[in-house]
Amino acid sequence: MFLLIGTVLPFEIRNSEFDIRYWGGAGNVMNGFKDKKILVTGSTRGIGFAIAEILAEQGAVVGIHGRDEGRTAEVAGTLTAKGFSVFPVAADLGNPDEAVGLIKRFVKQAGSLDGLVNNAGGGKAVAFRGMKLEDWRNTFSANLEAAMLASREAYVLMRKSKQGCIVNVASIAAHGPGKWMGADYAASKAGLVSLTKTLAFEAARLGIRVNAVSPGMVATDMTASLSEEMKQGLGIPLGRLAKPEEVASVVCFLLSDQSSFITGQVLHVNGGLWM
Ligand SMILES: NC(=O)c1ccc[n+]([C@@H]2O[C@H](COP(=O)([O-])OP(=O)(O)OC[C@H]3O[C@@H](n4cnc5c(N)ncnc54)[C@H](OP(=O)(O)O)[C@@H]3O)[C@@H](O)[C@H]2O)c1
Repeated sequence: MFLLIGTVLPFEIRNSEFDIRYWGGAGNVMNGFKDKKILVTGSTRGIGFAIAEILAEQGAVVGIHGRDEGRTAEVAGTLTAKGFSVFPVAADLGNPDEAVGLIKRFVKQAGSLDGLVNNAGGGKAVAFRGMKLEDWRNTFSANLEAAMLASREAYVLMRKSKQGCIVNVASIAAHGPGKWMGADYAASKAGLVSLTKTLAFEAARLGIRVNAVSPGMVATDMTASLSEEMKQGLGIPLGRLAKPEEVASVVCFLLSDQSSFITGQVLHVNGGLWM
């Protein structure tokens, strides 16, 4: 048995309320983001917004991304008003040209790229008998192809600087039956996990890390239609949906130097829903 006296775990949470200020211990992990240039796709709301806010609070220069230019600028404006260094980059990731152009536009404004979070995505619960090929392709294009294209553009740049981090937001649906979501969603997220591992393997020799986070059920617009009864019926061992910040903090850990020896991994954030 080992007893470590006087040590502080990097992720010790000393309070039942989640608070990113409790990140700390041996060196403050969050100082590591000062002036880092990080693009978070799908950051106008939900998990992406929570990721962007944590990074910006800790000194990163963050690209706020969504489909609509006005909405993206409005969200970026709320963070700029808090004194954070963020700027808007709108693009419809259902369009491959826009997915490629997104990285170029981010770098034009930020000057370089240290991190990419492929978070944008979504899907519906569609019965398989009614699955249309067009819908299948649309889901794949936003959830998987866009991540592939943005990652490729980012990887080309990161290879030159021999550093960088990519984090993909997958889903519990990637690791078993989609259950509450359609087969298109589950299959696209399983593809994202595979992309994560394959790129991580190729990129590792250059010091570039690629990981994924697989959330279970998170309280965002995506789950807003679930009734209280339905939420209880999910049988989440921790007894509730995750807050967006609880997924965001894990994404930020994977972007930080505190995870410097982690690559090709999937971190599950699901309250015990899948073990
Ligand atoms: N919520 C959950 O329970 C849950 C569970 C597992 C995994 N996830 C995954 O986590 C990620 C974030 O989910 P969330 O719940 O935070 O979703 P959300 O609240 O619905 O937000 C989705 C974000 O993605 C953007 N987006 C969606 N489709 C896009 C497209 N075609 N092009 C550009 N941007 C697009 C949206 O931008 P606009 O402003 O343009 O709408 C928005 O910023 C998704 O990949 C989702 O699959 C969520």
